[in-house]
Amino acid sequence: MRSTGNGREPDDFGDSNDSPPGEASERSDTDRDYRAQLERSRRKWDRWSDWYTMSERDFEPMRENAIDRLGLQPGDRVLDIGCGPGVNLERLRADVGPTGKVYAVDYSPEMVTKARERVDRHSWENVEVVRADATRFDADERFDAAIASLSLSVMPDVHRTVENIDRLLAPGAAFVVFDIRPFPDGPARILNPLLWRFLRWYANWNPDDDVLETLRAVFAECDVLETYTAGTTYTALCRKMEMAP
Ligand SMILES: C[S@@+](CC[C@H](N)C(=O)[O-])C[C@H]1O[C@@H](n2cnc3c(N)ncnc32)[C@H](O)[C@@H]1O
Repeated sequence: MRSTGNGREPDDFGDSNDSPPGEASERSDTDRDYRAQLERSRRKWDRWSDWYTMSERDFEPMRENAIDRLGLQPGDRVLDIGCGPGVNLERLRADVGPTGKVYAVDYSPEMVTKARERVDRHSWENVEVVRADATRFDADERFDAAIASLSLSVMPDVHRTVENIDRLLAPGAAFVVFDIRPFPDGPARILNPLLWRFLRWYANWNPDDDVLETLRAVFAECDVLETYTAGTTYTALCRKMEMAP
């Protein structure tokens, strides 16, 4: 399992010299901006890693439901993107069984440490926790399924993350997203600017990318299956296109 596509460490974004000067400097500006966002995210989640128990408990039934939607089979290889302290691992590893494997990816070193402690505490042999940026994580194999719970909307670049997940999935594989969004309709929408600010402060929430729009742009099939709390929390199921016969 590799954390980047080029053998570098996940936070090493060394610029290549093979583009024209204008293009290279534009790209390095974008990279610098992305790196700054990622660093902000790392600091935030490192800090929250000690206080995650409440979020783990509150969202438990919705997470379970989202995992049901993956339809995992024994022997499957499943990716947990933005795994945090490993809240999905017990269930995912049970579903894929001893012949399957769970790859859990997170960028925050403290979250990764917490997830690894959980794995070690239970001696789970079918789980690997990897520290990597979700836009650059790479693997030698394709996955049968992937889940992103409460993580896509806090990724600094949702589009590149979703494209990367699509690339990592086998044809026909399911990608389940359980996430939070502003009020989608009704008078409560007046509260959205406040909610944005709160989520930005609390979770480094990314207001620039619409997660569902991005999912629908990348995946041929993508449906919202459940909504909760006036539509502000939802589960979506996307499927990677099967290969033409
Ligand atoms: C709200 S937590 C979600 C944790 C867990 N999946 C859950 O259901 O509670 C969001 C996680 O996404 C991770 N994250 C944010 N940006 C990331 C990135 N670019 N690559 C990998 N992980 C990232 C954070 O470090 C954090 O642990």
